[in-house]
Amino acid sequence: MIQFTPSKRMTQMQSSSTLEVLQKAEALRRTGKDVIDLGPGEPDFNTPDNVKQAAHRAIDENFTRYTPAAGTAELKQAICEYLFRQTGTRYSSSEVIASAGGKQTIFNAIVTLVDIGDEVLIPSPYWVTFPEVVIFAGATPVYIDTEPNAFKLTAEMVAEKLTPKTRLLIINSPNNPSGRIIDKTEFEQIVRLAAGRGIYVLSDECYYKFTYPPHEPFSAASLPEELRRYVLISGSLSKTYAMTGWRIGYALGRSEWIAEMVKLQSHSTSNPTSIAQKAAIEALTGQQDSIEMMLAEYGRRREYLISALNQIEGLECVLPEGAFYAFPSIKNLLNGKIKTSADFAQYLLDEAYVAVTPGSAFGTEGYIRISYATSLETLKKGVERIAECCHKLLYQ
Ligand SMILES: Cc1ncc(COP(=O)(O)O)c(C=O)c1O
Repeated sequence: MIQFTPSKRMTQMQSSSTLEVLQKAEALRRTGKDVIDLGPGEPDFNTPDNVKQAAHRAIDENFTRYTPAAGTAELKQAICEYLFRQTGTRYSSSEVIASAGGKQTIFNAIVTLVDIGDEVLIPSPYWVTFPEVVIFAGATPVYIDTEPNAFKLTAEMVAEKLTPKTRLLIINSPNNPSGRIIDKTEFEQIVRLAAGRGIYVLSDECYYKFTYPPHEPFSAASLPEELRRYVLISGSLSKTYAMTGWRIGYALGRSEWIAEMVKLQSHSTSNPTSIAQKAAIEALTGQQDSIEMMLAEYGRRREYLISALNQIEGLECVLPEGAFYAFPSIKNLLNGKIKTSADFAQYLLDEAYVAVTPGSAFGTEGYIRISYATSLETLKKGVERIAECCHKLLYQ
């Protein structure tokens, strides 16, 4: 039999470690184990009814054909209006593209900008997909370790990593996995620094709506025009409207960059699903109370979870300011046998059937990511089991 050999490009790509956690947990569950899954970055809420109804209507009205590759004019307008309501900045139709989720947006953005040999700055911890796409595009990820500053990215940290090869900086605030946000003034300084050197910035704002008081959402769309020319905003309806399976994301930025993204998309997936586009219009323009409800619930879970984690001997967790993840340090619990965050995550799964994601998946060793996009009851059960495991590690 002839052996299948994938392209060199694919041999360099790792499969998504967050999805791996999901698969491991699922495999255990199939054997009848009571698994507590704190792995997925997916809202446990249902898509709001008004959004679902819009999709039903789209099918009934046979809105089931190809649309323009960048999305319908109506959806693009809804995205621009949404951004205008949030930030007071108007983007035009040629400055927006809708894609099959934020993931496709980010893929399009990176692949259309960077060349072989370029460097792309990625603050760590980072969302797993960023470096994989950068490597796929033939560029080199250059990491900025934010751990020494409690995961807060600063312009100074960025400045230290700039070289003549730097082409792009990726920022993600609120951050997955740390939950930290970049404060408004620092955000502006970072972009000013990049723009001053002709470096582009990809601002992944998929958790934009999920910030906890006193923190407020900040979008790069609020930056002055001369800075916005260097920024591409990536957004997603996945988390904001509990629409992960619908696959709708979008990008906003200068029209030349967007045009290249449309070209690429037209030859890969074409348009995002016509039905999901109708649902997305309803999500963006219809009643918005589901966001408030979800945010309030995430807020309650955050209060409980962070204080409960900090009461467990050996764990230390900074307060996330946004998103729905806790990122506690497990450094005090590592020993001769459990040496890494991956060992620790495996130990939790084997001993207590609790699934979490190791920090190494996000480029930061010595931490685990716990998602609180799950019910308070499940969180409490999970925390009890984690506490027992930590106790065993310290005293057995
Ligand atoms: C930081 C970040 N960006 C982008 C995405 C992409 O989400 P989607 O492709 O569902 O829009 C995710 C999903 O987990 C994420 O955590």
